[in-house]
Amino acid sequence: MTTHPPAFKPVAGNTGLEQVLATVWACLREGAAPGRSPYSIAQLATVSTDGSAKVRYVVLRRVSEDVREITFHTDVRSSKIAEINANPDVALVAADLEKNLQIRLEGRAHVITDGRVKRTAWDASRDHSLVLFRNPLVPGTPIDSPSDGQPTNQTVTRDDGYENFCMVVMSVTSVDWLDLSPDGHERAILVRNGLDWHGSWVAP
Ligand SMILES: Cc1cc2nc3c(=O)[nH]c(=O)nc-3n(C[C@H](O)[C@H](O)[C@H](O)COP(=O)(O)O)c2cc1C
Repeated sequence: MTTHPPAFKPVAGNTGLEQVLATVWACLREGAAPGRSPYSIAQLATVSTDGSAKVRYVVLRRVSEDVREITFHTDVRSSKIAEINANPDVALVAADLEKNLQIRLEGRAHVITDGRVKRTAWDASRDHSLVLFRNPLVPGTPIDSPSDGQPTNQTVTRDDGYENFCMVVMSVTSVDWLDLSPDGHERAILVRNGLDWHGSWVAP
């Protein structure tokens, strides 16, 4: 359970903050839905094993407001997985830069490397999304030229690369919403307490 500052009050019953929370989850759901949205691609930050900060883009794949979780897909061999396994604290930022809206999330991540949920996600993925997982080279392996890192033309079966595919589920523990649109200039921070939220408007 995340602790929250004493000034933070229950969001339930506070219409303004309830609206912020609803908007945040709606934006994230839109990001995970088919088709492009400003929220389809977010930046995920991890803490590296040497303590330095790492950040990269990921595609939002699933958003489950009921359990406060966000899922993305990645290669189990990638650095971010070792980082998450060593320190599950992660942060994510997504934005609609046209509208000057920013959503920052913090939470803890866990990695799904097997089981029915992974199988369902793999089976639902389009072939072109699976190409990277079929590369025998571990992501980040030094190569002599970019052509050495290209997918081979070998015939593949649908399950080739399955062992390299994994899902990262981020359990969201806090939300920082910033609206810098001309009519906005509003910021709110919400911290999860069990499945409930406490929060406050804060100075932008
Ligand atoms: C538009 C875009 C979308 C991306 N989506 C993903 C993704 O969903 N999952 C992923 O693992 N990497 C994705 N990447 C690549 C990552 O940003 C990153 O380069 C790669 O995962 C290696 O990161 P790591 O070495 O920190 O693990 C994406 C990159 C771009 C440019």
